[in-house]
Amino acid sequence: MKSNQPIGIFDSGIGGLTVAKAVKKQLPNESIIYFGDTAHLPYGDKSTAAIQAYSVRIAEMLLEQKCKVILIACNSASSAAFDLVTEYVGKKAKVFDVINPTIDFIREHHSDDKIGLIGTKQTVSAGVYERKIKELKSNIEFTALATPLLVPMIEEGIYDDSISNSIIERYLNDPALQGIKSLILGCTHYPIIKDSISAHYLKNNEVVEVIDSAQMVAKALKAFLEYNQLNAKEKVLQDKFLVSDFTASFEHTTKTFFGKEVHLEKIPIWDELN
Ligand code: DGL
Repeated sequence: MKSNQPIGIFDSGIGGLTVAKAVKKQLPNESIIYFGDTAHLPYGDKSTAAIQAYSVRIAEMLLEQKCKVILIACNSASSAAFDLVTEYVGKKAKVFDVINPTIDFIREHHSDDKIGLIGTKQTVSAGVYERKIKELKSNIEFTALATPLLVPMIEEGIYDDSISNSIIERYLNDPALQGIKSLILGCTHYPIIKDSISAHYLKNNEVVEVIDSAQMVAKALKAFLEYNQLNAKEKVLQDKFLVSDFTASFEHTTKTFFGKEVHLEKIPIWDELN
């Protein structure tokens, strides 16, 4: 691994751009190769085996692009495939997920709370957060709710109107989430609706901390690169934004997630399967 190699980041679609944005802010000299597997979106409804197969192939592609780090910017893929991707990549790159940095944050700041999680069906049923929180042996009471309508809603660009607010309310009023003190956004799409979620609690006079892992992941990555002297001294490569399927609406929504003009390039990584 060398400092001037890029950082590979992937998600099922454009949700992982919330993580890529935090990485760019913390590490402005780094070059990023972002891959959104838009041909297979959403991952949240796929089987574990399917997500594992996609993730390993994407890791292979990012290694071909000489990435020093592979950051799984997707909770569904982190839940289903982190161990497998780590084993597959071996010493060729460092693999990060979005779950472990969040668990570290919880260990430090929330040892006896009632904590809720919202995420995709895959993330909730895999139970990785639940298992890791149990391993902390703290007094945390943990509860999780699958919220499958949120990803398609956000990908459709519906995230700040009466429809999105009704869906959000409906989920947050679910009995499973009552009495929580913190809420983990267990999907990298959800930071886009963080303000609406906070507004719901404010309106109901409830004090609930909304935990968004993007900053924690970026900090963990920065600490790793600095400690191992792998941080780029200057920016040598242009950032690349790759997708496995292209539509104009992806490009449009990408700007919302990343905050600037982003040119999406289609890369035919699944063609051999078709
Ligand atoms: N953004 C992803 C996550 O964090 C996946 C959403 C999906 O494709 O279902 O889980």
